[in-house]
Amino acid sequence: MSGITVAVVGLGFGQDFVPIYLAHPAVAEVVLVEPDPARAAEVAQRFGVRRVLHGFEEALADPSIDAVHVLAPVVFHAEMTVAALDAGKHVACAVPMATTLEDLDRIIDAADRSGRRYMMMETSVHGREYLTVESMFRAGEFGSPTLYRGFHVQNLDGFPSYWLGFPPMHYVTHALSPALALFDTTVASVRANGSGRLTPDHARGGFDNPFPVEVGTFLLRGTDVVADVVMSFFQTGRSYIEGFSLYGERRGVEWPADNEGPLTVHDMLPSDGVHRGNRVTTRLHEPADHGHLLPPPLAPFVRPTTVRFPGMTEPVTVADGHGGSHPFLVHEFVSAIVEDRPSRIDERIAAAWTAPGICAHQSALHDGELVPVPDYTAPGREARGGPDPSLRSA
Ligand SMILES: NC(=O)c1ccc[n+]([C@@H]2O[C@H](COP(=O)([O-])OP(=O)(O)OC[C@H]3O[C@@H](n4cnc5c(N)ncnc54)[C@H](O)[C@@H]3O)[C@@H](O)[C@H]2O)c1
Repeated sequence: MSGITVAVVGLGFGQDFVPIYLAHPAVAEVVLVEPDPARAAEVAQRFGVRRVLHGFEEALADPSIDAVHVLAPVVFHAEMTVAALDAGKHVACAVPMATTLEDLDRIIDAADRSGRRYMMMETSVHGREYLTVESMFRAGEFGSPTLYRGFHVQNLDGFPSYWLGFPPMHYVTHALSPALALFDTTVASVRANGSGRLTPDHARGGFDNPFPVEVGTFLLRGTDVVADVVMSFFQTGRSYIEGFSLYGERRGVEWPADNEGPLTVHDMLPSDGVHRGNRVTTRLHEPADHGHLLPPPLAPFVRPTTVRFPGMTEPVTVADGHGGSHPFLVHEFVSAIVEDRPSRIDERIAAAWTAPGICAHQSALHDGELVPVPDYTAPGREARGGPDPSLRSA
């Protein structure tokens, strides 16, 4: 068999990626890594996967495995990434890349010394809503941009207990990364505040976080636009929403209020010289799928699709999570390996998209103090700045 061998590590969210790797023409084999034997056996049986490993170390020691995609809980991301890079594996990792600036640096160092490819699997810049807004933006339809609002409000009651008290801004990437990708920039500094107060049952978990909600204002390098971001995981009476709205001098596009469905597009007409305020027309706009950008075997995964691979006993329908973004992530990671080039969200870009949330949480713990964000994409390690050391230890 020609092609690479990919291990999918962690089969909660991870199981969504198994059929996409199986369908990719440059992937020869998919191996499952999951400590829960019942879950591992069920997913293996469902997709006809032959090789299951129960320990991550087994995958690292296996020379036939070229790449790992880490979808274990957040607390494992940094350790697994560094260990896998050091073992000579290419690494894709679910967001967030890590939750401390020190771990971001460790991952960059590990990627540098290994020469292997790293990618943070950021869904928010590969979904149909993002791709639709991006094509309007690149076509100049917004005019000059004036405001970005990102938001991720999700109630995590009933989720695994390791989420209790999790600092909301440590998970900022879904709400912030679209701004950084659209404007091709990074965050210079942030001010954030906590809002509300976690109840004692939500504050368990061992984090230094008293807030159910964090609200941040991110200043972007090389642009006058501010990104205003709201993050909440507990005690906020709102259905799940994870997205952004973008406004420019001529157009504003708003994310669907219930997270799925058409975008709302506001177009502002020029002044007629008579009335106060310019006229604004408002319409709904269905975001377009971009499956044509994918290899044909992956294109169906932008919508729910049914698969039956060799070894499967019956067809299985696969959902199209996160705006149909998953096949784009798989294709980009695999392509970076096969073409021997940095991935679109390589270790430095991933750090630049993750660090602002770490700094925002530090700001929130210090009543909105301005916290500079290191510049990971500037050439040379010495360019990294970072928060005042006194803020790191809070
Ligand atoms: N839109 C997105 O990008 C998105 C969405 C959901 C989850 N996530 C991320 O994906 C990751 C997984 O989320 P989830 O909801 O599936 O979590 P989960 O806790 O529900 O499932 C994690 C799985 O990993 C397994 N696991 C635990 N320790 C492991 C180890 N040492 N080695 C291998 N597997 C291990 C668990 O048994 C479980 O099956 C998290 O980091 C989460 O932040 C990202």
